Amino acid sequence: MSTRILALESSCDETACAVVIDGRRLLASSVASQMEIHARYGGVFPEVASRQHVLSLVPVVRQTLQKARLSLDEMDAIAVTRGPGLAGSLVVGLNAAKGLALASSKPLLGINHLEGHLYSAWIAAFPADPPPYFPLIALLVSGGHTELILMTDHLTYCRLGGTRDDAAGEAFDKVARLLGLPYPGGPAIEQAAAGGDPQAFALPRAWLKGSWDFSFSGLKTAVLRLVRQLEKEGKPLPVADLAASFQAAVVEVLVGKTLQAARQFQVRQILVAGGVSANQALRAAIRAQDDFPVRIPPLGLCTDNAAMIAAAAHFRYLSGQRDPLDIEIRPSWPLT
Ligand SMILES: Nc1ncnc2c1ncn2[C@@H]1O[C@H](COP(=O)(O)OP(=O)(O)OP(=O)(O)O)[C@@H](O)[C@H]1O
Ligand SMILES: [Mg+2]
Repeated sequence: MSTRILALESSCDETACAVVIDGRRLLASSVASQMEIHARYGGVFPEVASRQHVLSLVPVVRQTLQKARLSLDEMDAIAVTRGPGLAGSLVVGLNAAKGLALASSKPLLGINHLEGHLYSAWIAAFPADPPPYFPLIALLVSGGHTELILMTDHLTYCRLGGTRDDAAGEAFDKVARLLGLPYPGGPAIEQAAAGGDPQAFALPRAWLKGSWDFSFSGLKTAVLRLVRQLEKEGKPLPVADLAASFQAAVVEVLVGKTLQAARQFQVRQILVAGGVSANQALRAAIRAQDDFPVRIPPLGLCTDNAAMIAAAAHFRYLSGQRDPLDIEIRPSWPLT
């Protein structure tokens, strides 16, 4: 018997719905992005985000069910992101999911958004695509998180380390702002870096030897100092070279520490997920070795989406999780 799960995601600035079969087969996925709205403010404006979720949720659910050619009654469960994320945004998705579960008499599953990012790698890119296997090292790099996780089985996580200050995506966003590039900064830096020299500026790498943690604030400050100095000298900002040098510094540390962990824990695979895993320089660098097969979700599933929530929910459903209709949001919910 296969399981069909409809999931909602509204933890930040995307309103999303998806239907996934058996945690791997994506039947339909819709994402209503608020990116253009928040770009005006240079970042996510929480009140605007929750209001937009209220407006977009019903059309997004309708569209997804239409695409899947299924009705709510044909689902086995309704899943939703319970946290972490913006409280005002999470509450919209959770209440909508409760309504759908109640109306259809289907079980409700509250899912951790970070678990969702990891399970985006389970969605099959093509029908014969084999699932990831354990043990694996997962590098989770997103707007709010940078985590190195050892996964020995489904839903079993050992957090090795994480960022001590800025998340990788946050560093991309902040440095983009320093360089006068638009929000969101990750794709803008990647684009600018394509025409730049990654060795133009020698920027610091925080290796934090003896720990699996990361730190990006020193790198961000180094870019800030460089920008100020160049501006003081009245020179035009070499945006492409700065973007390429910054990106190379981030990628080198992320890949270096992930490979080190993969060797130390003798894993069979490496998994990279989260918004920053859309970065081509990172994807190429982690694949430029033959020791470990690498799993990275397709581009459309790196940033926030509901397919990943449905995929994680499948394995939670199999483990017996069923949540009561009075569960609450968990805005700071850690993965472990
Ligand atoms: N091509 C790219 N290169 C680098 N960074 C990128 C790229 N595309 C997106 N990002 C970054 O990914 C982040 C968004 O990812 P995601 O949607 O997973 O984050 P989030 O949901 O806001 O945070 P979290 O998942 O930690 O709660 C942003 O910081 C964005 O700049
Ligand atoms: Mg996310």
